Amino acid sequence: MQFCLRLGAIDDAVGIASVQVTTWRNAYKDIIDSGFLTNFSIERATEIQRGRIGSDGAHRIVATVNGQIVGYAVCNLNETGTEPFRGDWFLFALYVLPDFQGMGIGKALLSGVIQEGKARGFVRLVFGVFSANDPSKAFYKRNGAVFIEELPFQLDGKSYPTDYCEIVIES
Ligand SMILES: CC(C)(COP(=O)(O)OP(=O)(O)OC[C@H]1O[C@@H](n2cnc3c(N)ncnc32)[C@H](O)[C@@H]1OP(=O)(O)O)[C@@H](O)C(=O)NCCC(=O)NCCS
Repeated sequence: MQFCLRLGAIDDAVGIASVQVTTWRNAYKDIIDSGFLTNFSIERATEIQRGRIGSDGAHRIVATVNGQIVGYAVCNLNETGTEPFRGDWFLFALYVLPDFQGMGIGKALLSGVIQEGKARGFVRLVFGVFSANDPSKAFYKRNGAVFIEELPFQLDGKSYPTDYCEIVIES
């Protein structure tokens, strides 16, 4: 299946939110609080995305198939996020709709994130992945990620063990 990558913009808020909610409900159903997942609607996610896109300075890449957004990545300089990684080039989101996983889209998005970091002079990409998210940890490992340390990640008042990892950006 052919897919395209392009930069995400404010008009993509619904498409991005739709991928986020659908992917979270699928990938996180046994990981994060089910009440939170049930209440996290596409409408609510769209509202949040609209507030962020264009104002947070992040680099957003969307993957499309026949014009439909099927995946996206968000990366940025980590200014206020997880403490030990302030100043790092940070991957804040990488999601591909379940029906489109395993086709190289995640790898292409990750590569775009790494290339953008390289263009900005960073020597590593850092990210967090829920410690219980074994398939995604395997994806990242396959793509060169190395574990740094486990730290708690707070979401909706709950704490989830999270593996922080790095991918070296080759010069
Ligand atoms: C993780 C995710 C982004 C990967 O995207 P994807 O499009 O499915 O992965 P790709 O098809 O690009 O796979 C790229 C490579 O990783 C490998 N890979 C992908 N998933 C894998 C897995 N679960 N275990 C082992 N290897 C895996 C592929 O075999 C491929 O290897 P190759 O380069 O040798 O061919 C996607 O599956 C996803 O959105 N998962 C659910 C949400 C999630 O957990 N996101 C990460 C949040 S931190």
